[in-house]
Amino acid sequence: MPTLPPAHPGLPLAEVDTPALIVDLDAFERNLKRMADAAAAAGVRVRPHAKTHKSPIIAQKQVALGATGICCQKVSEAAIMVEGGIRDVLVSNEVIGARKLDRLAALSRQARVIGCVDDPLGVSQLAAAAERHGARVDVVVEINVGASRCGIDPGAPAVALAQAVAREKHLRFAGLQAYQGRAQHFRTIAERRAAIDEAIERTATTVRALKAAGLPCDIVGGAGTGTFELEAASGVYNELQAGSYIFMDADYARNKRADGEPYDTFEHALFVFATVMSMTQSDRAVVDAGLKAFAFDSGPPEPVGFPGAIYERPSDEHASRSRRQGAPHPRPLRPNGQPARLVRRHPWHGRPGSRRRKRVAGRGAGCAVLGSSLRARMLTRPAHPRGSSRRPSRRS
Ligand SMILES: Cc1ncc(COP(=O)(O)O)c(C=O)c1O
Repeated sequence: MPTLPPAHPGLPLAEVDTPALIVDLDAFERNLKRMADAAAAAGVRVRPHAKTHKSPIIAQKQVALGATGICCQKVSEAAIMVEGGIRDVLVSNEVIGARKLDRLAALSRQARVIGCVDDPLGVSQLAAAAERHGARVDVVVEINVGASRCGIDPGAPAVALAQAVAREKHLRFAGLQAYQGRAQHFRTIAERRAAIDEAIERTATTVRALKAAGLPCDIVGGAGTGTFELEAASGVYNELQAGSYIFMDADYARNKRADGEPYDTFEHALFVFATVMSMTQSDRAVVDAGLKAFAFDSGPPEPVGFPGAIYERPSDEHASRSRRQGAPHPRPLRPNGQPARLVRRHPWHGRPGSRRRKRVAGRGAGCAVLGSSLRARMLTRPAHPRGSSRRPSRRS
């Protein structure tokens, strides 16, 4: 039976099928540029984390604005990036197991694919895979700079591991990964600064010790959206790995600037577009975006532009929007069938400002995007002229 895609170029926003993941392209493009400009001003490279988008199209946009390459958390994501034309990919995570490492080593023959290790087993397994594929793989040593997730202890243990890498014929020591993940969502600048000062100190000590051992670091990487300005100004880090900045999730907006105001360096740019599908009570609307449409790891989404409305009681494909007690009657409670936007919490969501033009993407493969005219266009080059109302042919 023929089916229509959820959106296509030229489609008005109100006609986009829901629930749909939508991008405010104006905000997204400004976010890309702000990070590129900040890194250039600080004299450091950007290697954005692609875990936020997992899209070679977006990675290409970041590279076009000067990114030195991309980070991925998984070998399968790195493969998609290399296939999509990204020439320099850091798998910023420990990889164990012959099948994954064989894939990484094979990929490293097509592009620069950098591995990451924090123990001797990782070194020997990666070296064996590289040998099997006749490759020479660049490797960073991950050090624990305070987050206590992965990472060998800084200083002498890290130097010993780097030496183990350097001894392997099929590996090349490329530097350090020193990411302080826990600090990213510390709310005050004082807390973030204290954590990153410690990370900088641990990293600087290790860089010096490596240099003394004859192992200079090409890459000293780390930093996320919450702290990148601190690492950029450190004189120690030379690559920023921030990722979430492109869409700016709602949790990052709870971080505070030095003056106590919400952190607003980047704008929310990713939303879930939903339809009110039932409204049998005047203070409650049921929308078609539930547990399957959101990540709830940082709490429920926020309705956009409807003060007083709260999102609650999600089930698989439903959720209610009610008003907070005492709040004015929430305007989002529109008649059935009217679409409304919801802010997606971590890792995706935001609250677009009213002055902003809405350029939004439909869900799914192809990612149709609404232009400033509130008509769909593609994130990639449009198949039809922008604003065209020509419908694509139906597909089965
Ligand atoms: C190793 C590494 N680097 C960088 C980042 C990017 O952080 P953010 O998305 O908060 O900017 C992450 C996020 O989890 C990460 O795991």
